Amino acid sequence: MKSEQKILEMLKEKPEEFVSGEDVSKALNISRTMVWKHINALRDCGYTIESVKGKGYMLKGIPDLLLPAEIEKGLKTEFVGRQIHHFDELDSTNLRARKIAADSPNGTVVIAEEQFEGKGRTGGAWASPPGGIYLSIILKPEIPPDQLHRLTLVTGVAAVEVLKELGINARIKWPNDILINEKKVCGILTEIDAEADAMNYVIIGIGVNANTRLDALPPITMLQATSLKEETGQVVDRIAITQRFLERFEQYYVAFLTDGFPSVLKQWREHSSTIGRRVKIVTRFRTILGEAVGVDHDGALIVELDDGTVEKEITGTCFHL
Ligand code: BTN
Repeated sequence: MKSEQKILEMLKEKPEEFVSGEDVSKALNISRTMVWKHINALRDCGYTIESVKGKGYMLKGIPDLLLPAEIEKGLKTEFVGRQIHHFDELDSTNLRARKIAADSPNGTVVIAEEQFEGKGRTGGAWASPPGGIYLSIILKPEIPPDQLHRLTLVTGVAAVEVLKELGINARIKWPNDILINEKKVCGILTEIDAEADAMNYVIIGIGVNANTRLDALPPITMLQATSLKEETGQVVDRIAITQRFLERFEQYYVAFLTDGFPSVLKQWREHSSTIGRRVKIVTRFRTILGEAVGVDHDGALIVELDDGTVEKEITGTCFHL
């Protein structure tokens, strides 16, 4: 644990009380000057810490930020989120994750409070004002690149289950949009760096409209989007949601790698709002209309067209009609 985190722990252990600089310096075996420096570094991160000569330091406020120290505390994962990079603002967490992927351990997470070039699926933008959760996970799985779409479904299952734990009736629109009452609350963008048949790394980017103000979204997005705050009528705990998501994600990711895709696919089917619906599927090559009748062993959507023929799509944009 870093010295700053240890100091934070000491302050949190004694809410409403002063902790003396001497106690901190003894506990961490560092000088009083170093204690002072670490306290200032914590202040720079947004923690409000009162200091009174002769008494010491008291924690007065924790910032509403997705700070690594807060997320790591009590995070029940083996490798996902064991290293977290946090930024107040970034172009895109996926872009930053790509830059550091080669030198980062499996499971490293990049988080931003805001993105000014958030990327969505099919080359679109993902509006990323303050209050949302924007994170990317760097993974180094030993799976062939053609299994990427499966990983996308795995992420969707993890995300929807976290929202269900909060008592929210969220569903998955194929392949992995998370909807509440048909409005999008969370999107997933999976990107890859691969050779012909080997994966170098995968970046899983997830954006959640958590405490996002809907009027901060572009008008066209606003009409089709919702936020957790809007749906629950209260400010949600972004740190807890991030922790639960990282835990669930790791659980399903490991199940996918060890037990195979069927175990996760079963959960995906249970959470799907697409199966049984009339849909329009737009891919790079064609548009089809029909009824979504199921998802095959590979995660491909099975669509029965109006003329009775059956088609499958492995990826594309789905519209519920
Ligand atoms: C979608 O279009 O549904 C996918 C949206 C994915 C947005 C997330 S936010 C964190 C990560 N960084 C990005 O630039 N995009 C993804």
